[in-house]
Amino acid sequence: MSQMNTGAQEIISKFEVAYTEDVLSRLKEQLICDHPDGTMPRDAHPKMHGLVEAEFIVHNDLPDAYKIGVFSQATTFKTWVRFSNANSAVQDDIKRDIRGIAIKLTQVLGEKLNQETDCSDNQDFLLISTDTFLCDNIQTFDAMVKAFQGSLWQKIVFFVTNPSVVWKLLTSFKVFANPLQIRYFSCTPYLLGQQAVKYCVTPVSQTIDAVPGSPDSNFLRTAMKQQLQTAPVEFVFGIQLQTDPKSMPIEDASVLWKETASSFFPVATLRIPMQNFDTQTRNQQGENMRYSPWHSLAEHRPLGSINRARRLVYHAISELRRRVNGVN
Ligand code: HEM
Repeated sequence: MSQMNTGAQEIISKFEVAYTEDVLSRLKEQLICDHPDGTMPRDAHPKMHGLVEAEFIVHNDLPDAYKIGVFSQATTFKTWVRFSNANSAVQDDIKRDIRGIAIKLTQVLGEKLNQETDCSDNQDFLLISTDTFLCDNIQTFDAMVKAFQGSLWQKIVFFVTNPSVVWKLLTSFKVFANPLQIRYFSCTPYLLGQQAVKYCVTPVSQTIDAVPGSPDSNFLRTAMKQQLQTAPVEFVFGIQLQTDPKSMPIEDASVLWKETASSFFPVATLRIPMQNFDTQTRNQQGENMRYSPWHSLAEHRPLGSINRARRLVYHAISELRRRVNGVN
């Protein structure tokens, strides 16, 4: 192992690139095999509930520790937000799953890490409905992908040797009534200047609707439509500072950074105005759009092996699906 000395304690294994390349080639092969007909969805989070227009309003008078990158001054970014189910199969919303929120700030000035020119002025934040990731690092993630693609015996061996992943699979897949009423977490850490942080997005309203008695297959889209026809929705974007490198590790995305040790400080409001987002044009825009944690200012660089792997994977998979789908 070689140690990289940043303020946020990254440790990069010499095998990491090999695990990442293996994950990428397996995901690519699977996509090509599953979608030979010229329309290719995302490998993960293919089912979209809606792409909505929003405003990301950075709060006034933030403490200096938070006034970095997009949070450095009180301003409002025009933003696109895509809500999704995580499963690589498009399935009924009543099935237990992890849900996603992908937030794209536009017209962001400053030095970026972005590879894609069409996203050069974006700052993206990707969060999911569970507070820790399924796997600790990219080595385990690669083993999981191999097991899912392998024989029953390979699956059994993986689950026996990785009980914590089994536990996460059992506990983080849930049924929700409305994507606008869920709390979302980054799970993985990011830089905030020299400091490591995690993100959380929390709905301002405490209302939690009941899951419909006889739900249609896309009831999460229906719930969003109904809510945004009658009132705007607000979420608070919170930042949690790493205060202890041992109990709040960078290289293990399966460990919860406890809110009792360091709470999420509200730095911005994500405001989704009333709108009708369910149009053919908007839905196509959502399909073609690409998000990545690496569409980022250098001050918000993604940290840890899961995030480092995502740099290669998101770029290559979004290039592949856009090429196959004829998107420029
Ligand atoms: C090694 C771990 C991971 C891999 C290999 C992976 C892979 C992917 C891929 C291939 C996509 C589709 C990209 C595209 O075609 O545009 C995607 C989308 C997404 N991922 Fe991940 N992911 C990982 C971890 C995570 C984590 C830790 C989170 C958040 C906590 C996350 C949240 C999302 C979300 C929200 C989307 C949907 C983005 C959209 O709406 O377009 N992923 N992921």
